[in-house]
Amino acid sequence: MSLKAVIFDLDGVIVFTDQFHYRAWKKMADSMGIYFDETINHRLRGVSRMDSLEIILERYKGEPLSREKKEELAASKNESYRELLATMTPADVTDEVRETLAEIRRRGYGISLGSSSKNAKFILERVGLTDAFDEISDGTNITRSKLDPEVFVKAAQFLGQAPEDCLVVEDAEAGIDAGIAGGMHTAAIGEATKCGKADYNLETFSDLLKILS
Ligand code: BG6
Ligand code: MG
Repeated sequence: MSLKAVIFDLDGVIVFTDQFHYRAWKKMADSMGIYFDETINHRLRGVSRMDSLEIILERYKGEPLSREKKEELAASKNESYRELLATMTPADVTDEVRETLAEIRRRGYGISLGSSSKNAKFILERVGLTDAFDEISDGTNITRSKLDPEVFVKAAQFLGQAPEDCLVVEDAEAGIDAGIAGGMHTAAIGEATKCGKADYNLETFSDLLKILS
């Protein structure tokens, strides 16, 4: 097996923004009288903003909402979410993640982000990790969300690498499916280890160094 590059999901792999997403969606749901809890929040992992809204609206009992109203709801969620993201600092990334990324670069691998988030660059800036990535493929350069492989295929293209030479690191089953669909190797961490579909299950982030010699 020849691996030349690593493509990292962001939320749930590099940083842990679940609670911020939860609090921001909860505020929006409460304002509409929609039931929303942590279990529903889990279903939003790796899912785009508008698709997440549709999942939350499954519990909405009022008149059908127009496209404009849905965009307004997603924008209000994003405003609350950005306020929470603005509180992030470099202390929100563990030394293990920072040092592992640096070591992967030292070993000569290309490194790209592969995140569905349109806030990815803002998050990387907040936590001081922008320079750890050679390329960034995120929610601003895709039209289809994971399980579609588009975000990872673009990341491989940005890096100038063939999909079969890339390893995708993901915490969401949808992201592992996307990596497989893109013809890449996959490493699962956290929740995604339970799906049993990835080539590797990581117990901890630095386990990557055992795969990338
Ligand atoms: C993914 C998160 O990384 O980004 C999802 O796992 C989120 O929960 C998605 O919905 C889109 O994020 P954003 O920042 O563009 O609203
Ligand atoms: Mg994720």
